[in-house]
Amino acid sequence: MGRSNFLSFSPPMLGDEEVNSVASVLKASEWLSSGPKTKEFEEQFAKTVGAAAAVALNSCTAGLHLGLVVHGVKPGDEVLTTPMTFCATANVIEHCGGTTVLADVESDTLLIDPKQVEKKISKKTKVIVPVHYAGHPCEMDKINSIASGAGAKVMEDAAHCMPSKIGERWIGSGDNLCAFSFYATKNMTTGEGGMLSGPQELVDKCRMMALHGMSKGAYDRFKKGGNWNYDVPQPGYKYNLTDIASALGLVQLVRLDELYRLRVKLVEFYDKAFKNSPWLETLRVKPGYQSSYHLYPIFLNLEKLRIDRDEFIVQLTERNIGSGVHYRPVHMMSYYQKKYGWKAEDFPVASRAFERMLSLPLSSRHTVEDAADVVQAVEDIFQKFKR
Ligand SMILES: Cc1ncc(COP(=O)(O)O)c(C=O)c1O
Repeated sequence: MGRSNFLSFSPPMLGDEEVNSVASVLKASEWLSSGPKTKEFEEQFAKTVGAAAAVALNSCTAGLHLGLVVHGVKPGDEVLTTPMTFCATANVIEHCGGTTVLADVESDTLLIDPKQVEKKISKKTKVIVPVHYAGHPCEMDKINSIASGAGAKVMEDAAHCMPSKIGERWIGSGDNLCAFSFYATKNMTTGEGGMLSGPQELVDKCRMMALHGMSKGAYDRFKKGGNWNYDVPQPGYKYNLTDIASALGLVQLVRLDELYRLRVKLVEFYDKAFKNSPWLETLRVKPGYQSSYHLYPIFLNLEKLRIDRDEFIVQLTERNIGSGVHYRPVHMMSYYQKKYGWKAEDFPVASRAFERMLSLPLSSRHTVEDAADVVQAVEDIFQKFKR
């Protein structure tokens, strides 16, 4: 009974094309850092999502940091975001010396609740950072309008997106800076990597700050006809992506549709299996929105079980099924609790979701048979530990 080998939570879906693309850079290129492949990756990415411009970076975290820097976040400024996110979203606010302000989430999507944003916005709010949790877009029309009414900017944490849409509009195609992640577990990956999309002028500023604040990139200095000379008008960071990683990203981008369709198949299987389950709840997808289905979180009805979430994960592991928790909320991390005095009850929706949540394996590489093993293990645990 059950699986004989461990089902990994989110392995990458890579094939010969990715291997060949990376190998061609290693074998033939005279340039391994940000060069022609990275430029091509940026252009193809911008074209795919319909962005005016895009800059490739070594992480989404770098993109979030640069976005806040170019929006001028400094000590005394507030940045409004969600507790239900990876710590990077808030950490970059702290790196800029800004004050992190949290607005609780909606219970059925775990997306930042526009009503809570209205409550928490102040004269000091410089930037709002909505997070498209699990790849489901936030209500951007409402959030953009609240921000513009308060004179604040919006930068989107699109780490989970690709491909996410509102109607026919891709996340990444609007006027806001959007930070995407190509981390190893993401829908499309470069191992580590990210992309920041947005209006040309803002992206140009980020590009300069991503490479030490230098007025000219290294490739433009070293290529034939290039000029060594450059200035540093402002000290920047070292956040650029390599051509090796971009060669991988370019192939993943071409395969995005195929990868997404494989993912949807698994989500449909899970949805059908759990539809009328008394033991758990799943996320809602709002009409008119396309989720990238980056994650498949389930929320246990703990009152019907004799075990808690952590023990549930132990039981899954015993049955050779990997899983994750997305996320222990920002207000429950000790740094933030100490600094801001936050308690679980300050953000009740996120706190309650956290206690009950775990994410099931989801990867374009998994088969429907893998998903069936997951469902069987989940059901088995429910039967064994029901009250
Ligand atoms: C919501 C969210 N924001 C930001 C990040 C940071 O992405 P990266 O690892 O590419 O820096 C992640 C990564 O997992 C994430 O899930």
